[in-house]
Amino acid sequence: MPKLFIQILLLSCLVLLTVQAGKRSSKESKKEKHKASSLKNKSEYCYDDIDHPYVFFATKTSYRWNRNKNDDEITPPGCVAQQFWLLSRHGSRNPSTEEMLTLKSILPLIQNEIISNHKAGKGSLCKDDIENLEKWIFRANVNDDEFLVKEGFKELEDIADRYQDRFPKLLTKPFINSSYIFKHTETERTNASARAFAKGLFGKKDIPNVFFQELNSPDSLLKFDEICDKWRKEVHKKKKALIEKTLFEESGEMLSVIQSVTNRLGFLSPLNLNDINEMYTMCTFDKAWRPKKLSPWCAVFSKEDLKILEYREDLKYYFEDGYGFPINYEQACMPLKNVYDSFRHVVESPASSNPKGIFYFTHTATLLKVMARFGLFKDSIEMKHTNRHLMKNREWRTSLINSFAAHLALVLFNCSDGHYITAYVQERPIILPGCSSELCKYSDFTKKYEKFATSCNVDDICRI
Ligand SMILES: *[C@@H]1O[C@H](CO)[C@@H](O)[C@H](O)[C@H]1NC(C)=O
Ligand SMILES: *[C@@H]1O[C@H](CO)[C@@H](O)[C@H](O)[C@H]1NC(C)=O
Ligand SMILES: *[C@@H]1O[C@H](CO)[C@@H](O)[C@H](O)[C@H]1NC(C)=O
Ligand SMILES: *[C@@H]1O[C@H](CO)[C@@H](O)[C@H](O)[C@H]1NC(C)=O
Repeated sequence: MPKLFIQILLLSCLVLLTVQAGKRSSKESKKEKHKASSLKNKSEYCYDDIDHPYVFFATKTSYRWNRNKNDDEITPPGCVAQQFWLLSRHGSRNPSTEEMLTLKSILPLIQNEIISNHKAGKGSLCKDDIENLEKWIFRANVNDDEFLVKEGFKELEDIADRYQDRFPKLLTKPFINSSYIFKHTETERTNASARAFAKGLFGKKDIPNVFFQELNSPDSLLKFDEICDKWRKEVHKKKKALIEKTLFEESGEMLSVIQSVTNRLGFLSPLNLNDINEMYTMCTFDKAWRPKKLSPWCAVFSKEDLKILEYREDLKYYFEDGYGFPINYEQACMPLKNVYDSFRHVVESPASSNPKGIFYFTHTATLLKVMARFGLFKDSIEMKHTNRHLMKNREWRTSLINSFAAHLALVLFNCSDGHYITAYVQERPIILPGCSSELCKYSDFTKKYEKFATSCNVDDICRI
């Protein structure tokens, strides 16, 4: 198939060259010319004209598409919110310095080729999409290695602000050291995310008063996978964990993406996967940095191409951090134990001064594993390179569950007939496994999760 296609392309290229050489009156080239132009109309597609482009880019998805702007006070009848617990991913960030250097050097080359292809009458990008691409330059500072960007800061600040509106009697100002716990990993992006969240709660002036806990070393709460030997030896970046993604990259679906992009951009021979990856990365970060602005690099993909690339990402995370291997989530018991112990302390020792808010800031790899430990977003079938269509409506969709600033929040309520818990993901209540509704009986919660909390010995779990 691709061979035949290349032959056709080579042929039409020759025809075009002949046309340009001035043989315009030739009957044959007239015919070809007509054929080429009608083909062009048929496939013409203008990203610039799409009002609601596809924005689900797995873990590079902007939080904007997941947020919940309804911040009405949450008041289950007869209940008072007693404690708020949060495990959050950092907000939108830059790529790594290494990635940025690559983007900055490779993309202008591709950009020039696309433009000259277009000038030679090749490819099917519309005029506006070409003009947008022509104007593109790499803008980020390559030294800001994975730094939180402005949009990311705003994401966390707004999330805090809205949770405060939902729980105004619990998440009160000003900051009081005994009422709030903040902790983040040692990176700039989680540090800045924690500060953005604190700003959303207490205001700018109060941030210098906020106490951010030191990370333990090693830290089995927020960075457990760094110290989990079993996971590092058996799963992390191992062939066994990457095989489905690799097979998917060799599948007809991925080849169709390569072919689709190659044709759209007017290349004669198929682009390589690296080139596709660079363009995809730029498209996803552009849309994370400025969600409402158009990214010219997204125009090189069809919606179907983007869905295929999204599935590839989900496959990777499923095996690295999700249900693909039990050790992925077995090691993630410390955060679960942390919220379990915290709530139990409030329930059993109401007289002691319990914190009102506990806020942790970490990364995809931690949040996904913890979500899996809670039994969330588990599909009844396993993800495989062959079943993308079967899994079209999958729960394990990182665009929705692990976008930038994705989080899991649990709130403990004291109600007239006992304690209850509600879990929120991306500001929306969810039903936890083991619970019969969003407002979950404390006893159902403990029944379901006690075993994970009490058996949480990470050394044993991670022993090889
Ligand atoms: C293609 O577009 C040209 C003008 O751009 C138009 O004259 C022609 O009829 C179109 N062909 C088809 C098949 O739509
Ligand atoms: C705030 O609380 C922490 C313990 O969470 C403690 O280590 C720290 O010294 C306290 N800071 C102040 C200013 O009281
Ligand atoms: C976190 O960021 C603040 C403000 O930028 C900085 O002063 C502090 O040293 C950082 N903390 C860590 C642990 O890097
Ligand atoms: C829960 O609220 C009731 C009043 O409705 C109060 O008597 C009780 O002490 C509270 N329990 C806790 C653990 O705060």
